[in-house]
Amino acid sequence: MRPSNARWVEGPFPLIETPSTKLKSDHFYLKAASEMTHAHNVLLRSLNSILQQGPNIPTSGDTNYQERNIIDFLYYVRCWVKTVHHHHWVEETFIFPEMGKFSGNPGLMDGPRHQHESFQAGLEELEEYLNSTRPDQYRWLGSNGSGGMKQIIDSFSHHLTDHLYAEIEVFLQLKDLDSEEYKKTWAKAEAVAKQSGNFTLLYEMVPMVLGCADKTYEGARHFPPFPWIMPYIVKYWFAAGNGAWRFNPCDFWGQPRPLVFITEGEAGN
Ligand SMILES: [Fe+2]
Repeated sequence: MRPSNARWVEGPFPLIETPSTKLKSDHFYLKAASEMTHAHNVLLRSLNSILQQGPNIPTSGDTNYQERNIIDFLYYVRCWVKTVHHHHWVEETFIFPEMGKFSGNPGLMDGPRHQHESFQAGLEELEEYLNSTRPDQYRWLGSNGSGGMKQIIDSFSHHLTDHLYAEIEVFLQLKDLDSEEYKKTWAKAEAVAKQSGNFTLLYEMVPMVLGCADKTYEGARHFPPFPWIMPYIVKYWFAAGNGAWRFNPCDFWGQPRPLVFITEGEAGN
């Protein structure tokens, strides 16, 4: 739910409608498709947050330039890259192979898996840019409008978002899988996702997931499935003192808030 009249993270890339609010079924496919939708919407909101605020952050040479803003923004974008990688890593190494196994069709998820390749190089280029660019060198738009960070993001964002939309359609086709087996695989996948990475997960990904999971969104009240205490731990420990989380569109309890680098007058997406 948009927190004010100003532009927010419902665009430029549209969010995905939650399947469970339109369809009814006790079969686990609907729960899986809906949970995956929430996860993809987290990736879309964080990308939209970057795209909405990026143009408004003064860079070196601008009147209101503050190095701190750039350091925090680059950190935020780096966390987004890691979260996108992590999501696809869990799918490729665990969820997709397991689904292939219990369905008796090892190639079941080959489509989405191959789509991952379409944005991999772009993500890596962005990572390289983030790791090699000093705050005073950083530009959203380079000279003549090209060569800055936006250009790198633009080079692969459509491939990524097309994939995020298409994968939900694949999940919605999986009505013939054994519902119980599917549920077990999903529960294991959650455990795998939480185990992998410790420092990175708690300092760089969990604050992003919590701050980009809008709990007021259709059917998303219980996502992410973290213990109730998690937002407190993140706020007062893992995210404490880190200005990057200003760029999140929600607080750590999933409540929408206006974007920092957008003015109230900028209405619409
Ligand atoms: Fe996914």
